[in-house]
Amino acid sequence: MDLIIRAARPHPTSDRRPDPVDIGVAGGSIARIAPAGAIPADGALELHADGRLVSPPLVDPHVHLDAVLTVGEPRYNQSGTLIEGILTWAERKRTLTHEDVKRRAREAVLWEVAQGTGLIRSHVDVCDPNLVALRALIELREELRDVVELQLIAFPQDGILSFPDGEALMREAMRLGCDVIGGIPHYEWTREDGIAEVQFIFDLARETGKPIDLHCDETDDPESRFLEHVAARTMREGMQGRVVAGHTTAMGSYNDAYAFKLIQILRRAGVTIVANPLDNIVLQGRFDTYPKRRGMTRVKELDAAGINVACGHDSIMDPWYPLGRGSMLDALSMLVHVAQMTGRGELFRAWEMVTTNPMRSSGRGDWGVREGAPANLAIFDCEDEAEAIRLRPAARWVIREGRVVAETEPARSTVHRAGADVPVTFTRGG
Ligand code: FE2
Repeated sequence: MDLIIRAARPHPTSDRRPDPVDIGVAGGSIARIAPAGAIPADGALELHADGRLVSPPLVDPHVHLDAVLTVGEPRYNQSGTLIEGILTWAERKRTLTHEDVKRRAREAVLWEVAQGTGLIRSHVDVCDPNLVALRALIELREELRDVVELQLIAFPQDGILSFPDGEALMREAMRLGCDVIGGIPHYEWTREDGIAEVQFIFDLARETGKPIDLHCDETDDPESRFLEHVAARTMREGMQGRVVAGHTTAMGSYNDAYAFKLIQILRRAGVTIVANPLDNIVLQGRFDTYPKRRGMTRVKELDAAGINVACGHDSIMDPWYPLGRGSMLDALSMLVHVAQMTGRGELFRAWEMVTTNPMRSSGRGDWGVREGAPANLAIFDCEDEAEAIRLRPAARWVIREGRVVAETEPARSTVHRAGADVPVTFTRGG
């Protein structure tokens, strides 16, 4: 063995609280999982998990690495609205340089890795005649391959038909090496242009053989219904399982009869839905007084209907969202609040939305805590997934292909009472 993880509680735990196991890693894969103590010491590096949760690494299936850490440049978004974010980004985009993009994106990626993330899918704005950000992130994808898998999506922030040479830029982005085709049909000037955009990206998928991951219906307008076109074309092209739609917040405003119909065809099409609760809870509902809509897609109902649902971080300190620290557990905590997924079983379901579900939609369905899988794991300072959502604990160790790529010493608290120091662990009876 190259590495032995001792006494870890393996995902998925649910309420059956599996007994701790030892995990032996050899050649970058999980070679053996056995009851704690059953794998003999053989001189390999040993990590003592002491009953902590071991999970597949977290996945961030939707982030905008070209924009991270630009908050306040050239000015802060004072209204906090989506449109002021887009206008502020348009100003900042003019000053992007290769090194500027790489430096900020690298920093944010390391924040994510340190907190247990092993796979990141980033949109990259390609509405730029020079594709500065894309060229920088393609380099970074290689540079950081030792600690994380980075997948890049050609994202037409300002539209494809509504931006000069939009189609040519999308083709060039794919030629340069983008992994995934993006889109933003609801942002085109007209409904007809939005439908034409959907047709274009599916044509491009057929030409290039690449999967699709588009922004879709990110608005409170219940008339924004591009997702049905995406689902229909997915089925007609035989692309089931290879199409992801992000945001889809209009679904929060559709009437129930239409939502029911849409959910049926999404399931048949095998389209993955990615919710981005951190951004959307602050960006949507801005035209409402009260009652004020939550502006999130129907996470709970989609999941219950058997649709693959995932959770993204979306923004980290950018013109749309000034907060964020690259923690997928922050994003997931927001998701379970906004979606009202605090039922006991729902908390465990939610964990799949930052691990197994986005792995499946990113072509990494082979990752998991099982023998023969790649040794991509994260050990969290807690005992189960529900506690991980509550505590958002340190990722004690993060492992990629059998190598420890990040580690964090958990914080320890003490209250100094008169005459006695009392340790505080934030766990019942701890
Ligand atoms: Fe986004």
